[in-house]
Amino acid sequence: MKKFYITTPIYYVNAEPHIGSSYTTIVGDIFARFKRMMGYDVFYLTGTDEHGQKIAQAAREKGVEPQQLCDELAQKFKELWRELEITNDYFIRTTDENHMKTVQYFVAKMMENGDVYKGTYEGWYCVPCETYWNEDELEHTEDGKHVCPSCKREVQLIKEENYFFRLSKYNDALLKHFRENPDFVEPDFRRNEMLKILESGLKDLSITRTTLKWGIPMPDDPEHVIYVWVDALINYVSAIGYPDDMESFNKWWPADVHLIGKEINRFHSLIWPAMLMSVGLPLPKKIFAHGWLTVNGQKISKSLGNAIDPREYVKKYGNDVVRYYLVRDIMFGKDGDFSEENLIKRLNSDLANDYGNLLHRTLAMIVKHFDSQIPGIGELEEIDKNLVENYEKTKRMYIELMDKYRITEALDVLWQFIGDLNKYFDETKPWVLAKEGNKERLGTILSLVTESIFKVATLVSCVMPNSSKEIYSRLSVSEAFSEKLLEGWNILKGNEVIHGEPLFKKIEKTQKEPEKVQQPQKQGEKTMEKQEKVAGQVGSENVVSVEELIDIDYFKKVDLRVAKVLAAEKVEKSEKLVKLQIDLGELGTRQIVAGIAQFYKPEELVGKLIVVVANLKPAKLMGIESRGMLLAAKKNDKLTLLTVSSEIEPGAKIS
Ligand code: MSP
Repeated sequence: MKKFYITTPIYYVNAEPHIGSSYTTIVGDIFARFKRMMGYDVFYLTGTDEHGQKIAQAAREKGVEPQQLCDELAQKFKELWRELEITNDYFIRTTDENHMKTVQYFVAKMMENGDVYKGTYEGWYCVPCETYWNEDELEHTEDGKHVCPSCKREVQLIKEENYFFRLSKYNDALLKHFRENPDFVEPDFRRNEMLKILESGLKDLSITRTTLKWGIPMPDDPEHVIYVWVDALINYVSAIGYPDDMESFNKWWPADVHLIGKEINRFHSLIWPAMLMSVGLPLPKKIFAHGWLTVNGQKISKSLGNAIDPREYVKKYGNDVVRYYLVRDIMFGKDGDFSEENLIKRLNSDLANDYGNLLHRTLAMIVKHFDSQIPGIGELEEIDKNLVENYEKTKRMYIELMDKYRITEALDVLWQFIGDLNKYFDETKPWVLAKEGNKERLGTILSLVTESIFKVATLVSCVMPNSSKEIYSRLSVSEAFSEKLLEGWNILKGNEVIHGEPLFKKIEKTQKEPEKVQQPQKQGEKTMEKQEKVAGQVGSENVVSVEELIDIDYFKKVDLRVAKVLAAEKVEKSEKLVKLQIDLGELGTRQIVAGIAQFYKPEELVGKLIVVVANLKPAKLMGIESRGMLLAAKKNDKLTLLTVSSEIEPGAKIS
């Protein structure tokens, strides 16, 4: 049997999972399900990364032992994956006994092979990214602070006696591998970034820490703990049995694909392959580095409080819709913005209108004219033959694209076919044939459309398993999704159909804002109806620009006020946060917390008249309550507060 081994990054347990971590796990699940349907034996791995300074620090801030934090958070990840119906075959935790033994074995082997030596590391370290940086790689703030080029947070200067891995030794071998395997890292612009690093030469890598205890001890030198990235990367082999269960390991390794986010490409495409070369193991077949999701254009982060819980959307729209939206609307590989508005558009147009409604119309006619039994396909006319040919081509292209991880394009091809199916239905006018009593022809058309939808449901079952299952049950098919069901016609002849409720429920636009946007043009509700039609017929693109505008009522919901800063102090143990007491006039005095410590000294803030969102729900930042948010303008590394002249009283409304 053909095998397929796919992995996600293992997630840090310093914070709860959010839509970003769910994105990779959902995409991984889609490919795992797809390969299972195509007859592969699949191993889908995900898990949690539980050691290192970042986790130790998070535990300290919470006042709990690191292991307790890890146990709680790992459980939360597991629960979320269950709720999102993720079909991972294993969940690895780096605090698992087996994994820890494998890491020590792996590092000992690197040492035996002469690739590890002792030295002193003096340089920069980014705790949130757990990454060492060279001085020339750093970025700088206006006031001269060194910041991480990846997460833009301040880096630490560390000096420690460390063990080093001879990464530089593998520079040429890696270059050779990249050149001989042009698909090793995808997309190609990510591969080129890695090639540039290789061409400028890799430096040896510090692989232990002594100023930290929360990690796996170095074999024979327990004062040193193994660098969290070395520990984490080894999960990909420890999870499948290396080195104790070589039968299992040899079955699955090398991985077919490591799915990752773009920010951890260097670790996966350069460091990990060099580590594998050092111990003499084959390299993974592919590393696919996808883009980043933002929310309303902003990076997802705990401190911004925009870490969306995917459950909220799953509850509102269903799992299938969220999965479909994520891979259809956001071009897989590129960055993209998560937007509920776009999700609704995809639901209304692609799913409810184009897909669900076609099934609904077709089954209604089979119920009415054929006593709920699929009549079967008779003699084919030219237009039917074209449809069959169209399907064959679509199927071929869809599979080819999915095999190349080009999921957004694969769905595009499939939805073009659904569009053609709708056209076929409209052009062959089955309702006229029904009126004329031409049952032979009517039966062929309805059966062809039904079987085509059945095939689409099979192809798309990896993305939307629940609606595909529902379609199967409405067509009395009890088999599991499989490649063989994509072949041949007339396989549903005689099956009983159930008409049922619409497969996807449209979300009425009245719940949203756009109709009001039309008001200045005095077009009112009629325009809305027109918009709805446009969205349904030719896709959502036509209405994007209108719907992204907000009307005045929407803006008025934000209570912006002038506030006077009465007192300010830095939040202990935080590099960013400042706690402010502000005077809001008629609204009284309040406390707010703002991430501006890198830009303003507390004493500079006192007396300033700033602009505040006064009706924001209270939030806690590092355990400190904040009732409101100040406004600031930010570009590149510069931040400046929005202030007003002193001719106005605190509490004044801004409109
Ligand atoms: N623990 C390391 C990975 C070790 S793998 C051997 C790590 N963990 S992480 O918790 O920070 O997760 C990073 C991964 O989560 C990203 O590479 C990406 O797959 C996913 N994402 C987290 N936030 C994301 C977005 N905002 N958008 C898309 N994916 C994101 O790095």
